[in-house]
Amino acid sequence: MSCILVEGGKRLAGEVEIQGAKNSVLPILAATLLSRDTCVLRGCPHLRDVEASLEILRSLGCGAQWREGCLAVDTAPMDRTEISDALMREMRSSAIFLGAILSRCGQATLSYPGGCELGPRPIDLHLSGLRQMGAEIEEEGGVLRCRAARLRGCDVVLSFPSVGATENLMIAACGAEGVTRIVNAAREPEIADLQGFLRACGAEVSGAGSDCVTVAGGRPLHGCTYEIMPDRIAAATYLCAAASAGGEVRLTRAREEHLSAVTAALREAGCVIESDGGGITCRCGGRLRAVSPVRTAPYPGFPTDAQALLMAALLRSRGTTVFEENIFTSRYRHVDELSRMGGVIRVSGRVAVVTGTERLRGSRVRSTDLRGGAALCVAALAAEGTSEIRGLHHIDRGYEDLARDLRLLGAEAVRTDSGENQHESG
Ligand code: UD1
Repeated sequence: MSCILVEGGKRLAGEVEIQGAKNSVLPILAATLLSRDTCVLRGCPHLRDVEASLEILRSLGCGAQWREGCLAVDTAPMDRTEISDALMREMRSSAIFLGAILSRCGQATLSYPGGCELGPRPIDLHLSGLRQMGAEIEEEGGVLRCRAARLRGCDVVLSFPSVGATENLMIAACGAEGVTRIVNAAREPEIADLQGFLRACGAEVSGAGSDCVTVAGGRPLHGCTYEIMPDRIAAATYLCAAASAGGEVRLTRAREEHLSAVTAALREAGCVIESDGGGITCRCGGRLRAVSPVRTAPYPGFPTDAQALLMAALLRSRGTTVFEENIFTSRYRHVDELSRMGGVIRVSGRVAVVTGTERLRGSRVRSTDLRGGAALCVAALAAEGTSEIRGLHHIDRGYEDLARDLRLLGAEAVRTDSGENQHESG
């Protein structure tokens, strides 16, 4: 059984290069299906979710291989339109393949993604948008059968700016006849990155980053070489690590314009953050201060993916901070584990109240989800003694090697991949 061991209480000093963004690469991998050609992705992170996407692409008949740090995907040989239940379960965001397969092949069959560790993960907005574009979708026994001889461009108004629905519809619209406008689109930077990729393949897409994305469909697409943007949540993780442990870290490639809600909260807490063209530097000394209420919201609001991370960094702050989780219904599962380490947190519905405490103690804790797991490592940096963080399969979905990166930043963190079964408590 694998775990990360963190020896707390050490100030950080170091530099790390931010990996490519998980949430960019997943929709871009789905979008490679549109090109019927080879696409080369630079800066593609080695992650469990990326491997799961590659398994899906391979199961559809495509080729994918890593070459000198780049990922080459050849979607020319695609000859299947069905994703197995096992592969759908492996990665909940696999619904992102629906628009791409449908758009290219006129049909797609996949199982319903169902719930995940953050609570129910409905895809009703994806499905209703595709239906408006002319898809016929039947749901039976958890299986979705979709058909569309030809998708038609139209105006789709999203009732909520869903990231996945915006991406799915953008991809589908590239293969549709006519113009599609996605209104109340999500504005996350990863959507602009998807637009960048689609344009590099020859698609006519504009507006990503605003609340209205326009796609003029039907243009033949080709392969391309594209560089994935840096991962803003990985950057937020290391900023919170520095805030938690104290010290000074440099995050090369990190872009503050993608992180302004997080850096604003950290500055309010007392961190000194400077950025330039090459990255972000963060300096923190002494105990942090509590901050104004942190309310998660669609971009450019405070990212739900950074909620657990900031909470972990503030466990030893002076004062009380209120968190309000507005995106997912079940996103406080890290709280019990942080409490084991001595964190003082009260949860009521969508609100969590953190009262800063002077001391945290190293503990044996278990990741409950991807960012919750990283948050345990962030808290462990500030705890007295050794912490043992388990449940690394969650963390591996989104970090190439979290322990390595924490070491580069000056932390005492090691990953062990065997010999701890005796501590396993189920
Ligand atoms: C993406 C990110 C995830 C991030 C989330 C919110 C990827 C691979 N994942 O997830 O890391 O936490 O954005 O920033 O990019 N919803 C519906 N119906 C739908 C779609 C969504 O009700 O059809 C709801 C969801 O249940 C959730 C909220 O909308 O409560 C936000 O979901 P969405 O923006 O779609 O997130 P994802 O794309 O799944």
